[in-house]
Amino acid sequence: MSIVVTGATGHLGRLIVESLLRRGVPAGQIVALGRDVNRLADLADRGLVVRTADYDDLDSLRAAFAGAQKLMFVSGSEVGQRVRQHGNVITAAREAGVGLVVYTSIAHADTSDLQMAAEHQATERQLRDSGLPHVLLRNSWYLENYTAQLPTYLAHGVAGAAGDGRVSAAARADYAEAAAEVLTTDGHAGRAYELGGEAFTMTELAAEVARQTGQDVRYTDLPVDRYTELLVAAGLPEPYAAALADADRGLARGALYVPVDDLEKLIGRRPTSLADAVRAAV
Ligand SMILES: NC(=O)c1ccc[n+]([C@@H]2O[C@H](COP(=O)([O-])OP(=O)(O)OC[C@H]3O[C@@H](n4cnc5c(N)ncnc54)[C@H](OP(=O)(O)O)[C@@H]3O)[C@@H](O)[C@H]2O)c1
Repeated sequence: MSIVVTGATGHLGRLIVESLLRRGVPAGQIVALGRDVNRLADLADRGLVVRTADYDDLDSLRAAFAGAQKLMFVSGSEVGQRVRQHGNVITAAREAGVGLVVYTSIAHADTSDLQMAAEHQATERQLRDSGLPHVLLRNSWYLENYTAQLPTYLAHGVAGAAGDGRVSAAARADYAEAAAEVLTTDGHAGRAYELGGEAFTMTELAAEVARQTGQDVRYTDLPVDRYTELLVAAGLPEPYAAALADADRGLARGALYVPVDDLEKLIGRRPTSLADAVRAAV
């Protein structure tokens, strides 16, 4: 049996590989995929199979999925290209006769009106239409989306357009643990898990950073267009800035709030808290 993991050069894919190894999956049964296999050399040294796979190149996917029993399909990062790219992944998985596809989607993908949800909705539809047995991991935001901005928070405070909305953010490592659990235990095919951690508002985020650093850090709520402008001024490409600001618009209305404990149940412990994540970042 082999478990093929796409996006293994990325943060989440790499953590999923490490979680699988920690659970005792033999290295030789894990196939780590990336566009640049040189970046997977350390995994090859540890006995994993590494193969090249590009979501734009159907033939590379066909070769990469050969013999795959399970496919950990990490959603791509090229926003705007992903419906076609993900379609290629699903086509190749079907041709390879993969027994289970585990896909990283977005919270409430079936009902979400976030711009960022559209490509996940299309992918979920393609998976359904393919007839492939599959599991949807509908991940909320990463805690790291926030903790990576700690220097900005300390210099300028926290800005956003999320109002008093609560986000159920969780650590990438926790989402990776959940994925590894789904890949290594039975009974998940056909399920859609809504995954998220402890919920907090942006005001609470700012207060936690202030508490742990002893600095005056506050949250400034902006209209969506003003927040988009601020992100563009900070150097983000306009479409990406607009999508992030749109995510905050949705966040204000609960689009990334996950009121169920699917993540805790899958990983068998409480997900990493905001306080712990901020402590580690500080
Ligand atoms: N929940 C959240 O808060 C959140 C935030 C950001 C993103 N996401 C989604 O979750 C995914 C995983 O997150 P992450 O933090 O691990 O992102 P990441 O570090 O950017 O990793 C993305 C992975 O996808 C691979 N990839 C992108 N386009 C590809 C293509 N055309 N063909 C083959 N591989 C491709 C990348 O390969 P290369 O190394 O070759 O680029 C990389 O391995 C993201 O891709 C995105 O869909 C979720």
